[in-house]
Amino acid sequence: MRDLIDFIAESESTDKLPKLGFSAGISSCVLQRYAAIVGSSCPPHSGQAPLLLDAGAGTGGISWWISRNAPCNAVAVDYAATACKLGAERFGGMPTSLRFVVGDLCRLPFLSQSFSAAISIDALYLLPDPDAGLAELARVLFPNAPLIFTLLCSTAQQAEVERSWISRLGRHQFGFLRSTDMTRRWRLEIRRRHSARWAKRHQILCQAGPAAAEELTVTRAILGIGGRVPLIDSTCRLELHAVRC
Ligand SMILES: C[S@@+](CC[C@H](N)C(=O)[O-])C[C@H]1O[C@@H](n2cnc3c(N)ncnc32)[C@H](O)[C@@H]1O
Repeated sequence: MRDLIDFIAESESTDKLPKLGFSAGISSCVLQRYAAIVGSSCPPHSGQAPLLLDAGAGTGGISWWISRNAPCNAVAVDYAATACKLGAERFGGMPTSLRFVVGDLCRLPFLSQSFSAAISIDALYLLPDPDAGLAELARVLFPNAPLIFTLLCSTAQQAEVERSWISRLGRHQFGFLRSTDMTRRWRLEIRRRHSARWAKRHQILCQAGPAAAEELTVTRAILGIGGRVPLIDSTCRLELHAVRC
């Protein structure tokens, strides 16, 4: 698995971004925007650095980048122990204030009011019960803490999905700030990554072994190779900003 992640990340990395593992569709200017918000979030006691929670962090590439580029500490939580282990191996040795914790977003292993900001990149919306995840985020965040999360949905349902998240935020002590349609940027980035992946498919299969075949199946569907409608063209990506009331 690690060979596959490394090889794919290596083949897709650009000079603008380091290898962030599977984190996709995030450009350096988006990361800078997140870092600015997290860096200016305020812990209640003066003198403390902001503390970021990356909820559903995967291998933690995004929180690693933020913790290197903003004056903050970060905790990356994911229930996939393998992802946390890979992230700790990849980023743990580098000078950073990022810590990995294995845990469930619906039962976060943290005290109430511990974090001054949270991000959840393409993770919160995957929960079978997103309300439980939001309730937990509300519990562990300080009042006034920013929350940024992204989600993917079908283009046909975009307006309905957006409305349902806005009302869900209201039910869980979050004030909705804004929603940004990131679809165009996301599609460009995903197309770039998967095209690079597809162009190197023989090399990937040789070097990363049979596990890569599944990844390449995803690539086929996303790009619409073989005459199918590209999945990417009927999917949109939203970025929502809220604040803990
Ligand atoms: C699409 S990945 C996104 C990973 C990372 N945020 C990124 O952008 O690279 C979704 C992540 O959410 C995690 N996840 C899903 N449900 C979870 C839960 N209940 N508790 C913790 N993590 C969860 C998965 O293990 C996976 O790493």
